[in-house]
Order: sequence, then structure tokens, then C-alpha cells
Amino acid sequence: MKKIALALVCLYGMSFAGDYDATQGQMLALSCASCHGTDGKSTAVTPYIAGMGKTTMYKTLLDYKYGRKVGTMMSKHAKGFSDNELEQVSYYFSKIKR
Ligand code: HEC
Repeated sequence: MKKIALALVCLYGMSFAGDYDATQGQMLALSCASCHGTDGKSTAVTPYIAGMGKTTMYKTLLDYKYGRKVGTMMSKHAKGFSDNELEQVSYYFSKIKR
């Protein structure tokens, strides 16, 4: 019984990890670098987004995309991505050390 439980935990862990595609996240993040710096470590006036919480960033990006939040740049930029892409890119930045 213990073995079965362990196997289930492993399977669950694998399927969960599969939801995040690191390569796709990194590719998408390249489009943010021009303004937010490499890996979101901004040295300019744009916000520093490296290490931002995944949920917070995803929600913020959706708010920009659907007009619940207005930005000079982000309202336009966020519209170019699918919801899933915004989630992937949020995962990517959340995994970077600040
Ligand atoms: C054209 C420049 C530009 C690009 C490209 C860009 N951003 Fe931004 N971003 C900004 C600016 C400027 C702000 C400040 C809000 C505003 O004025 O839009 C901002 C704000 C944000 C915020 C809110 C930060 C906070 O603390 O509230 C997040 C999250 C963010 N950007 C994520 C991204 C991601 C992810 C990408 C790539 C998919 C990206 N940005 C691409 C310019 C840019």
C-alpha cells in the first residue's frame, strides 16, 4: 500500500512539473529583456521583476491584458500573449533569484 501511495505521489509530481515548460518560459522572457533587463533584473526605470511571485505576476499580467490595470507599456505588451504564455513566463521569472 505504501508503494502505491509513493507511486501516485511521483506520478502527480511529474504531471505537475510537466505543466511548466522551461524552454518556452525562457523564450517568452526574451521579449521582456529589452525593457526589464536580462532575466528581469532591471537597472532602468522599468520595474525589477526577477523573483516576483508567480501568482502575483500572472495576475498582474492578466490585469494588463484585460484592461483591469492600465500601464504605459504593459497594456499593449500583455495583449500579444495567450493566457498560457503569460503563465509560463510568470513561472520563469518566479524561479530567478532576485
Ligand atoms: C516596451 C517595454 C516593456 C516590455 C517589452 C515589457 N515590459 Fe513589463 N513593464 C514595462 C513598464 C514601463 C512597466 C510599468 C508599468 C507600465 O507603465 O506599463 C512594466 C511593468 C511590468 C510588471 C508589473 C510590475 C509591478 O511591480 O507591478 C510586470 C509583472 C511586467 N512588466 C512583466 C513583463 C513581462 C513578463 C514582459 C515580457 C512578456 C514584459 N513585462 C515586457 C515595460 C515593458
